[in-house]
Amino acid sequence: MKKVITYGTFDLFHEGHYNLLKRAKALGDYLIVGVTTEYYDRQRGKLNVLNSLLDRVENVRKTGLADEIIVEDHEGQKPEDIQKMGVDIFTVGSDWVGTFDYLKEFCQVVYLERTPEISSSVLRANKFPIVQVGVVGCGRIVPRFLAEAKFVSGVNVGAVYNPHRENVLPFGKKYKLEPYYEEFDEFLKQVNAIYIASPHETHYDYAKMAISRGRHVLCEKPLAFSVGQAEELYHLAKEKGVVLTEGIKTAFCPGFMQMMNLARSGIIGEVRDVEACFSRITPPGLREMADDQYGGAFLEFGSYTLLPIFKLLGCHYENVEFDSILAENGVDLYSKIHFRFKHALAMSKTGIGVKSEGQLVIAGTGGYILAESPWWLTKSFEVRYEDPTKIDKYSPKFLGDGLRYEIADFVSKINGIERISYCLTQEESVAMAGVVEKFMEERKRQKEGQPA
Ligand code: CTP
Repeated sequence: MKKVITYGTFDLFHEGHYNLLKRAKALGDYLIVGVTTEYYDRQRGKLNVLNSLLDRVENVRKTGLADEIIVEDHEGQKPEDIQKMGVDIFTVGSDWVGTFDYLKEFCQVVYLERTPEISSSVLRANKFPIVQVGVVGCGRIVPRFLAEAKFVSGVNVGAVYNPHRENVLPFGKKYKLEPYYEEFDEFLKQVNAIYIASPHETHYDYAKMAISRGRHVLCEKPLAFSVGQAEELYHLAKEKGVVLTEGIKTAFCPGFMQMMNLARSGIIGEVRDVEACFSRITPPGLREMADDQYGGAFLEFGSYTLLPIFKLLGCHYENVEFDSILAENGVDLYSKIHFRFKHALAMSKTGIGVKSEGQLVIAGTGGYILAESPWWLTKSFEVRYEDPTKIDKYSPKFLGDGLRYEIADFVSKINGIERISYCLTQEESVAMAGVVEKFMEERKRQKEGQPA
């Protein structure tokens, strides 16, 4: 008996899939079809598959062509399956020519002609109109955002706004974006959604204007400087039926989610302490150092360090204390924020003029999780226990610089695929604005030399 195997996502099952399975079956006597898991698809950068694994398996089953359906959930599985199942022929569509030649060591490899002009990507794009995004600001993060947005299907970034003509014209030219610098409204008319990457103090105003006009908003952190502002924006977004997401990229990184879920699973017992540190020595001229009102270490990096604290301990702390080392202009070079929760403690450390170990330690009653720098991308972490010889190491897959996961989540929410914001909840985002509010009051007091 000649065994044939093929693999695919089979999202929005279409004629191309059917033809492929039919021809695959005709290559032998027994057809095995591997269907990818959502987790594996995300890991390999396929970020907006619409059908669930069960639906995709069911659609393959309904063709009646598969003698056996298996699930593909990790890289390197194909040679395992081929050897384990005694496969004679591996086959996929001609879009993969050459990619799987390494399997010739184990079986025959056949690339079948792909059915022209149909694909899941095209169907996905037809199902949901392309989200037209405009960026606000020409800062350092925007080119990274543009590069990462290319990996997310269903989104096109085509316009840029910046009130300074002299900045936006060359920037627009360089990155092939339509530049706008006078009327913000005109800019909004060209897009369905905006990505706000302008200076911190402008976030709230741009977000409010865009939401009021029915545009979806992905806003760089910090979204707002007070609970009042943040709540107002979320209420307005709800009223207008648009998506508002605070762009804390860590929250959307697959490894970070995995680490949070492991910590919640009880693997280290009850979580009693979260210590998160993020520091980057910053040259004097840069905004973070020079802007005495909205610059400084905490406003720059605090969203990252607060994230695991609020995710694991909740947003209702009993007490918070701030301590900072200020530069002469009043900018905090180093800030420590200490939280007390009912049954736990937490510490956020951020620095732009002090370098420390950028790590995250989640301590529990039965062990701890240690994530080394850059834990905010979460490419690896360890679970450790009282017994020093027992260490569980995790190396989640991570693609690009992380922004693609945030963009994909934003687009999924706009399209109504991800309905609940579990990566970063509104409550967490508002609680962060609350800490920012208290921190700014405290820093002002410290700067003016007043007692707390
Ligand atoms: N396939 C095909 N003809 C098409 C589309 C897909 O022969 N028009 C084949 C692929 O080459 C692969 C299998 O069907 O062997 C499953 O492909 P999959 O990646 O799930 O489908 P696509 O439509 O290519 O999906 P996407 O657009 O998400 O890449």
